Amino acid sequence: MVTSPKSPKSPKGNEAASAPAPAPLSTEAQNAAGILPASHWTAQSLPEEDPNNDTDSTIGSLASTTASLTSSIYKYRTIQGRTYHGEMGTAESWEPNDARHVEAMEILHHTLILVNDGKLFLAPLEKKKIHKVLDIATGSGLWSIDFADEFPAAEVIGTDVSPTQPTWVPPNVQFELEDCNQEWTWPENTFDFVNLRFLNGIVDDWYALFRNAYRVCKPGAWVESSGTSTKFLSPDGTVKEGSAMDQWGKVFQEGGKKLGRTFAVYEEDLQRKCMEAAGFVDIEIRDIEIPLGIWHPDKKAAERGLWWKMAVESDIEGYINYFWHAVLGWTPEEAKVFARHIKKEWNDPNIHGYFMMRVAWGRKPE
Ligand SMILES: C[S@@+](CC[C@H](N)C(=O)[O-])C[C@H]1O[C@@H](n2cnc3c(N)ncnc32)[C@H](O)[C@@H]1O
Repeated sequence: MVTSPKSPKSPKGNEAASAPAPAPLSTEAQNAAGILPASHWTAQSLPEEDPNNDTDSTIGSLASTTASLTSSIYKYRTIQGRTYHGEMGTAESWEPNDARHVEAMEILHHTLILVNDGKLFLAPLEKKKIHKVLDIATGSGLWSIDFADEFPAAEVIGTDVSPTQPTWVPPNVQFELEDCNQEWTWPENTFDFVNLRFLNGIVDDWYALFRNAYRVCKPGAWVESSGTSTKFLSPDGTVKEGSAMDQWGKVFQEGGKKLGRTFAVYEEDLQRKCMEAAGFVDIEIRDIEIPLGIWHPDKKAAERGLWWKMAVESDIEGYINYFWHAVLGWTPEEAKVFARHIKKEWNDPNIHGYFMMRVAWGRKPE
C-alpha cells in the first residue's frame, strides 16, 4: 500500500509509458460471442451531430502494505491517447485515470446518490458506532469525502490504484494506493463499514474480495456492495439483437472474461453468494431498474436514466477505449463511430433499454 500524497487530479509531468495492450480476440472468438465487426457500424450513415442536443439541458428541465511513494506511480500507461494507472500489483484497470474520466466518475457519484434516494449507503449504520471506514477503489474519492463530511468523528480510508483523488479533503479522509486484488494489509477487526462500489471488471476473485472484507470488518460491522448488470434489456423487445446496446453488453462481458475480471456481477448473483460464503449475515438486496435514456414515463425513473446517460456520455470514449481497442482491436475512429451509434439509441425514445443496479449489504456477526 502506498499513501497517496493527495495529488492533483492530473499531476503535471506524468511520464506516460506505452501499455502493452493485450492481443485482441480472434475474429472467430468475436463471431462466436455475437460481436459485430467495426465495418458494420462504419457502413451505416449517422445524422449530423447536434451540438445543442446534450443531456444537461434535458436534465435541467427535469429536475432543477504502506510503502514510500515512488515516481513509478505516476508513470501512467497510454492506450490510444488515454492514460491508465501505473504499475500497481496485478491491477489492469480498464478505466482511464485522466481528468476527463475522473469528471465522469464524479457525475456518476451524484447519479448514484440520486438513485439511492439521496443516500450514500443503504446499510443501517448507527452513527455512534462508526469510527473507521474503508472505501475500496474509491475512484474520484467523492464517496469517501461525502461520507467523512457526514460522519466527522469517523476516519475514512479510500483506496485505489490511481492517485486521482482531490487534494482538498476533510481532515478525516486519507487516500491510499492499494491493489484490492492483493491480500489486504489492514489487521483483522479494523473497520466498522466497508464500501465496495462499482468494482465490475476489476476484481480477480469476488469470493476473496468478500473474505478480505469480512476479515477487516469488526464484529457487527457492515459491508455494502453496489454494481450493475452489463446487458441492456427491454420490456418490449426494442433493444434488438445486433443493436449497439446489445453489442455494448456483449463486448463488456467478453472483455471481462479476457481480463479474468467479470462484469457479470449482477447476472451471476455474486454479491449475495460471496457475502454468504464469507460469513456475512442479515444480507439485504435492493434491485433498481435504470432506464438508460429518455424514454421512461415515470418521472423518477426517467431522472435516473437521464443522469446515468449524462455520466456515461460525458466520457463515452473513455468507457469504451480499453475494450473496443484491446478486445476488438478497433481503431479509435471505429470506436468513435460505435459511440455515436449507441448515443443515437440512448436518445431514441422508441428504444426502451434498461439495465439493473444492485445494492447489497450484510453484517459480520457479533
Ligand atoms: C468505476 S470506478 C469506481 C469508483 C468508486 N468506487 C465509485 O463508486 O465512485 C473503478 C475504480 O477502480 C480502480 N481500480 C481498478 N483496478 C483496481 C484494483 N485492482 N485495486 C483498486 N482499485 C482499482 C480504478 O482506478 C477506478 O478508480
